[in-house]
Amino acid sequence: MTQHFIVIGNPISHSKSPQIHQVFATQAHIDISYQRQYCPDNEASFVAVVEAFFHGGGVGANVTVPFKQIAFAYCQTQGGLSEHARVAGAVNTLSIKDGAVYGDNTDGQGLVNHIIHLGWPLDGARVAIIGAGGAARGVILPLIQAGIGSLTLANRTLSKAQTLVAELSAASQTIEQHSVKNGIATCLTSELTGDFDLVINATSIGLSEASLPLAADLNSHYAYDMMYGRDLPFLQHFAQRGAIVSDGYGMLINQAALSFERWTGHQVEVIAATQTLSS
Ligand code: ATR
Repeated sequence: MTQHFIVIGNPISHSKSPQIHQVFATQAHIDISYQRQYCPDNEASFVAVVEAFFHGGGVGANVTVPFKQIAFAYCQTQGGLSEHARVAGAVNTLSIKDGAVYGDNTDGQGLVNHIIHLGWPLDGARVAIIGAGGAARGVILPLIQAGIGSLTLANRTLSKAQTLVAELSAASQTIEQHSVKNGIATCLTSELTGDFDLVINATSIGLSEASLPLAADLNSHYAYDMMYGRDLPFLQHFAQRGAIVSDGYGMLINQAALSFERWTGHQVEVIAATQTLSS
C-alpha cells in the first residue's frame, strides 16, 4: 500500500524533498508518494492543510519556510513535541502519535550527522556559530549532545545572541549544564577572533552580495555553511586560509533521512543515497 507524504511551504516549487525521499524509498523497497504542498502564508491555512492531510490518512509531513514556527505553536497546543523541536522552537517533521499531531525537528541533528559523515571531530571541539536566528537556535542542542567543548555565539546584533543563550539555557538542562561547565560566550560577529576547530555560518546572508565582517585573526580548521550552493563567500573566506569547508547540502539530505527513518522505521544509507542524488 502506498504511504503518503508531503512537504508544506511557500514557496515550494523549488523543494528537493520529493526526489530525496523517493531515493530513500527505493533503497528501502517501500512504495511512497511524496508531494510538494503549497500553502497560503497564514496560520489558518496551515492548520487546514495539516488536518486535511492527516485525516486523509497521510503518514508524515515536512514543514519548511515560512511555517516551522507555526507548526511548533500548533503542536504545542494541539499535539506533542520532541525535545529538539521544543528547544528549537520550530518543527520540520510532522507525524501522528497517540492520535495527535507530533512535531519533531531533525535539522540540527541533520547538521551533526553530516559533520560526523564528513569525519570532522566534534568531541571537545571549540565551536563558533555565527547567527542567532532560527537556524542557530536549532543546532545548539544537537551540537552540545555530540560532545563539543567550548561554544561561542557571534551575531551582528549582540543582544539577540545574548537573548538566545538565555532562552536556550532556560529551555534545556543540557544546554544550561554546558553553559555552567564550559560557558557559552557571545560577541559581535566582527569581534569573533582566535582559533576554533569549527565555525558554522547560521546567518541567512547566504549567496547575497553582502559578506560577513570576519576579523583578520579569526581562524578555524573546519568551516560549515548551513546554506548550500556554489561560491558561498563564507566558505571561500576560510578555504583561502587553508580550512576544510562544506556547504549545507549534506545537512539537507541528513535531516530528510532522519524524518524518513522516524516515519517508516527504515534506516537510510545516507552516503549511497547522496551518490544516487548527485549522479
Ligand atoms: P533563520 O531562521 O534563517 O536563522 P532569522 O531568524 O531571520 O533566519 O535569522 C537570520 C540571522 O542572520 C540573524 O542572526 C541575522 O542577524 P541579526 O540578528 O543581527 O539580524 C543574520 N543576518 C541576516 N542578514 C545578515 C547580514 N547581512 N549581515 C550579518 N548578519 C545577517
